[in-house]
Amino acid sequence: MQKMVIEGGYPLSGNISVSGAKNSVVALIPAALLANGVSVIENVPDIRDVYVMKDIAEELGAVVDYKKNENMLIINAAPARKTKVSEEKAGRARASYYFLGALLGRFGKATVPMPGGCNFGGRPIDLHIKGFETLGATVTEDEDVVVATTKDTLFGQEIYLDFPSVGATINIMLAACRAEGRTFIRNAACEPHIVDVANFLNAMGARITGAATGTIRIDGVDEMHGAVHSVIPDQIEAGTYMIAAAAVGKDVTVCNVIPRHMEFLTDKLIQMGVKVEEGGDSIRVSACENPKAINFTTTPYPGFPTDLQPQMVTFLTVAKGESKVREGVWNNRFQYVDELKLLGADIFAEGQNATVHGVPFLTGAQVRATDLRAGAAMIIAGLMAKGKTVITELEHIDRGYEGIEEKLRAIGAHIQRIEE
Ligand code: EPZ
Repeated sequence: MQKMVIEGGYPLSGNISVSGAKNSVVALIPAALLANGVSVIENVPDIRDVYVMKDIAEELGAVVDYKKNENMLIINAAPARKTKVSEEKAGRARASYYFLGALLGRFGKATVPMPGGCNFGGRPIDLHIKGFETLGATVTEDEDVVVATTKDTLFGQEIYLDFPSVGATINIMLAACRAEGRTFIRNAACEPHIVDVANFLNAMGARITGAATGTIRIDGVDEMHGAVHSVIPDQIEAGTYMIAAAAVGKDVTVCNVIPRHMEFLTDKLIQMGVKVEEGGDSIRVSACENPKAINFTTTPYPGFPTDLQPQMVTFLTVAKGESKVREGVWNNRFQYVDELKLLGADIFAEGQNATVHGVPFLTGAQVRATDLRAGAAMIIAGLMAKGKTVITELEHIDRGYEGIEEKLRAIGAHIQRIEE
């Protein structure tokens, strides 16, 4: 078993670079299967979820070459013929559900077992299914396996999402690219990776407009071809390093970011008293003496993202005063709070609300990475805490952060991975 060991209290300084966005690339790989040709995806992070999605694409018959030293994926989707994802593979990543939209679009049928991934309470895909059905597909769910088929073709329609779901927006967009006629997705998600996926699809021959607004218009096309695309920087990885720098940074520059994608966080950190300066494609962050408590609610983009909630709560554990946090996206995303309490944090969490009372300092302890972003939060906690913190269940962290220990070590963190 691997463990991460962190000696806390060492200030961070220097440049730290952000990799390509996980939540974009896990959609770009299935998107590549819409083409009858070769796509090249650049700036692909070396993380476990990429390998899972690559394995599924290969299971479906695509030929995939991951040149990890160049962070490049070459996907030849021409030989792909199969339309069924195995249960074992689908269970390894939440994003396996994107093969539903991609296979339905290209072949008119898809069989995908209900996906795995982090557990924040119920993670239904009813909005995805409603979207496929509105486009004319027949969708059945039998023993947790979703089968979507269309007799002839999909037909463009108006689809309203009850919630701006990231997954449903992308999945419907994938299927609608090949539908006959025009589709509108209303109340669509606006996250930066929605735009990234739309840009890739357009480069492949799709006709999508309005990504990043609440209404996405897709004019169906008969054929799609391979394309070359570079993945946008990972907004959540960038935010994780900004929060680490705010907590223990002397002077850290987070490089390869799109500052506009980080405004929700920049604003909150400045409110807390942290010094934040935006550059062209970088953000410089320096910790302050006595960070102030703040309140925040997670909401879909451009609001404060749920995927940075655990990291921000971790920083708030030492902010002076009382902070109130509301989780507005998932109904069970405070599981990690018990781990922070082991380090001496004073947090009361119930349902979708948490109240944090700042304490003077955290003290190292053994904690678990209960999910991907909770794992990132434990790393920040370990950097902040006095003494030694040991983190277990690292497989969650490895799903989504490329070389996180190496990157943090290079700016002064005392962090290592040990095998036991
Ligand atoms: C994506 O999950 C991300 N995952 C999540 O990041 C992220 O937390 C989430 O978006 C919100 O930003 C990937 O991109 C692979 P949603 P997704 O559909 O698409 C409800 C991480 O740490 N809902 O936007 O599954 C749902 O229950 C991961 O990187 C329905 O009710 O999230 C939730 O309350 C964790 N029915 C809300 O919408 C549906 O059919 C948002 O879900 C779909 C969603």
